[in-house]
Amino acid sequence: MQFKRTISCGLVDSTLVNKTIDLCGWVHRRRDHGGLIFIDLRDRSGIMQLVFNDAFSKVAHEDAHKLRSEYVICVSGTVVERSAQTVNNEIPTGKYELQVTALTILNKAKNLPFMLEEDNVDEELRLKYRYLDLRRPEMLHRLQLRNNVFFAMREFLQKQGFYEVETPLLTKNTGEGAREFLVPSRVNQGSFYALPQSPQLYKQLLMAGGIERYFQIARCFRDEDLRADRQPEFTQLDLEMSFINEKDIQTIIENLLNHVWKMVFGKELTLPFPRITWDQALADYGSDKPDLRFDLKIKDCTSLFANTELKFLKSVLSNNGKIGAVHIEKHAFSRSELEGYVAKAQQMGAQGLVWLRLKDGVVESPIAKFLPTDFVEQIKTVFPTFAEDSTLFIVAGDYQDAWTILGRLRLQLAHDLNMIPQDEFNFSWVTDFPLFAFDKETKKWHSVNHPFTSPQDGWQTQDNSQMKARAYDVILNGVELGGGSIRIYNSEIQDKVFQILGLNKQEMQDQFGFLLEAQDLGFPPHGGIALGLDRLVMLMSNASSIREVIAFPKTARGHDPMMDAPTQVNPLKLRDYGLKLNEKLTK
Ligand code: AMO
Repeated sequence: MQFKRTISCGLVDSTLVNKTIDLCGWVHRRRDHGGLIFIDLRDRSGIMQLVFNDAFSKVAHEDAHKLRSEYVICVSGTVVERSAQTVNNEIPTGKYELQVTALTILNKAKNLPFMLEEDNVDEELRLKYRYLDLRRPEMLHRLQLRNNVFFAMREFLQKQGFYEVETPLLTKNTGEGAREFLVPSRVNQGSFYALPQSPQLYKQLLMAGGIERYFQIARCFRDEDLRADRQPEFTQLDLEMSFINEKDIQTIIENLLNHVWKMVFGKELTLPFPRITWDQALADYGSDKPDLRFDLKIKDCTSLFANTELKFLKSVLSNNGKIGAVHIEKHAFSRSELEGYVAKAQQMGAQGLVWLRLKDGVVESPIAKFLPTDFVEQIKTVFPTFAEDSTLFIVAGDYQDAWTILGRLRLQLAHDLNMIPQDEFNFSWVTDFPLFAFDKETKKWHSVNHPFTSPQDGWQTQDNSQMKARAYDVILNGVELGGGSIRIYNSEIQDKVFQILGLNKQEMQDQFGFLLEAQDLGFPPHGGIALGLDRLVMLMSNASSIREVIAFPKTARGHDPMMDAPTQVNPLKLRDYGLKLNEKLTK
């Protein structure tokens, strides 16, 4: 089949008037007025109106009667200007139309399972027919944006002397961090590869290999519970550098994002991004990814309740707990709204939430009768602007737990009261993370970042809970966009960190022997970072989930409705791998 294409539909302009051109695309819309048939022809670039009439070509006009939505066609014809009354200002080609002299139907289409212009199509259906979903302009624009972001990043990093290096997807199950996907080996029956959660160890070993500046747009795999900003496979901009410190990595990332913003939006970002320590972020915003587009800081009001008679507050205080509050000013909440926030806080895991407000000069609160008469004066020592129509939302408990709930409440309140500017890109760095956290369930220490993160000076004499990491996260509008750290490059320090994590010598050797050995063979000081690119493109395109910016994502249950994956495998095939399914699963 022969077809030509002079130009894309959306690019037809005044220079082509009275010229003969060839277009290809899909029948987007068809209006049949008998003697005149209008077709909106769509391709990736946009829409061009076609006109069929006996006067231009009898055969083409005849054939145009057969056209239906989403037929794939190519046409030849002459570009003409539309009459003033028929100009369509909604589309860039709206001043022109193509008088068609030849039509070839390249392929037909049955009725689609949903109309491309329909809003609110069920997501499962969209994913089952993702190739149709991708024909929608907003989806095409998101993939275009994604492409532009990737291109700008590659361009910037190449100029900065980074090598793009690919690392294996079939790798070792090391058991650090998230749960991994396993791949059985046929050749080595009983053994499994793991898909990488990130190229972390490979990029460190590339530094051992003298690469000095590495990057990769890397596929990562994590078998974890999925959310709007999490997929089982996702894409990172992964990078690593030798002979650098925290500031060098942060500056590269700031300049990189600035370059992306310039190339994609034609705008510059304000550099450097503000920095906030992890301790401060928790104290003020109850989160390690604070949304700084609005203020609304959490305040410690433990001192207000030092002499309280209230049993539950007394018990929190005697267990070294803290009491914190978020203060909303000048807003008269209804009782049911206040009760709604109590319920929400409980869903967030709070034991309870106490509200307290000043209405008609009187303190109203479920705990009002337990408060001293001068309580308003006392409140003002902590919340100086507390006044009529002020409300405090108070949570008491273990510091980190209570503040985390207050942080989530802060976001909920800001959302409900429209306090979050929607047209802002607010970047920040969170620094000085704790090195370890204690897991109350397993009663073990684990790394807050990963076990290869370098401790800050002074760690040798500190308790595990006090040790800080040379780690940093970059935050955009309250979303963790990326994280990185300066790494351990000395096997003695690495060994000590593994010990704190509860690994014995044998486990260290089995899981990380190659790293410990490399650290003894001339390993340079190094560090790096990885940015979640799906999250970045989601935020840049104002999409509601990363699924909207991934060509073929999985559902929230990890399913691919288009290919129907994962699927069962013939037991005979499993035999090649030395595997047999549990009987319960074969039924
Ligand atoms: P980390 O685990 O913080 O660091 O991941 C870096 C960034 O990757 C994104 N991300 C995800 N995006 C979508 N779906 C997921 N399931 C998912 N998990 C993570 C986030 C996150 O900030 N190797 C280290 C980086 C380093 O230390 O250099 C790492 O992977 O945007």
